Amino acid sequence: MKVLGIETSCDETGIALYDSERGLLGEALHSQVELHQRYGGVVPELASRDHVRRVIPLIDQVLSSADCHAEYLDGVAYTAGPGLVGALLVGTALGRSLAFAWGIPAVAVHHMEGHLLAPMLEEEAPTFPFLALLVSGGHTQLVQVNAPGDYVLLGESLDDAAGEAFDKTAKLLGLGYPGGAAMSALAEQGEAGRFRFPRPMTDRPGLDFSFSGLKTHALTTVREHADDEQTRADIARAFVEAVVDTLIIKCRRAMEQNGLRTLIAAGGVSANKQLRAGLQEMVRDAGGRVYFPRPAFCTDNGAMIAYAGYLRLAAGQHAPLGFAAHPRWSLTSQN
Ligand code: KG4
Ligand code: ZN
Repeated sequence: MKVLGIETSCDETGIALYDSERGLLGEALHSQVELHQRYGGVVPELASRDHVRRVIPLIDQVLSSADCHAEYLDGVAYTAGPGLVGALLVGTALGRSLAFAWGIPAVAVHHMEGHLLAPMLEEEAPTFPFLALLVSGGHTQLVQVNAPGDYVLLGESLDDAAGEAFDKTAKLLGLGYPGGAAMSALAEQGEAGRFRFPRPMTDRPGLDFSFSGLKTHALTTVREHADDEQTRADIARAFVEAVVDTLIIKCRRAMEQNGLRTLIAAGGVSANKQLRAGLQEMVRDAGGRVYFPRPAFCTDNGAMIAYAGYLRLAAGQHAPLGFAAHPRWSLTSQN
């Protein structure tokens, strides 16, 4: 089965072609980072307009590079939510229309389900059931994944997502948008132990997160200390250590509670070096295994949407002729 995937939920236009027999046949991505950088964050209207400009040429590019004509396709998968409504509507309207025109089924994919399944695209893929740490710009969630479509939400962020905390703290330290990767690099220059940030909500039971206090902590630390490059690096280091430690503590707790030994981490923040190393170590000590998508599939991409769409289509699901974008959509209530 060949499925075209379309991702336009935020600031990346991602297109991919997945074949259930041969794997990924092609993919292309256009990042809008340069477009939004000067505003210090994503401008929704600019994002939608740019998706409109990019999406059809990228589909043409992916299909022709894979030497695949539309008539060979078995379905079209598009991200229907959660995300920016205007941006989602571009992929949703186009995905639904192409499927109608080509006479094949369309399937509405949940963006976080795409992230959650992204490690399955790797040669060394996890097997179900597993525990998933989803860490993106908009969500931080711990999910028990029993099978495709069978998800139990174990915990989530009550305020800022991990990626959002990275981006806000990066802004405060004068790094560009998005700041996750830049924070990680700056932290590597920082001195360990000069500052210590709290590990929010780890001193009580439960698997929820709260990251908004960390940026306030960073702000107070910046104000109280000299604004030199070394201090900024030391603050970045303390911040990254706090976020990573907190995520690891909650993953370990979830593994202990549900007895699962297989963990996956996905979403933009799972590209973070410090987090990957820390999770590897924790899982090794716990006698388990951790899986990550390749860094390019940690952040938004079309491949994860094509793959999630393929699984849904193979299970007999597809979207009705009408369509809707779901800017707020819970992962566990989608069926
Ligand atoms: O999954 P994603 O591409 O988009 C959403 O679904 O939100 O995640 C984007 C987030 C941004 O907040 C970005 O700063 C963060 O992922 N990010 C990172 C790294 N690379 C991307 N955070 C920490 N370290 C990184 N290396
Ligand atoms: Zn995402």
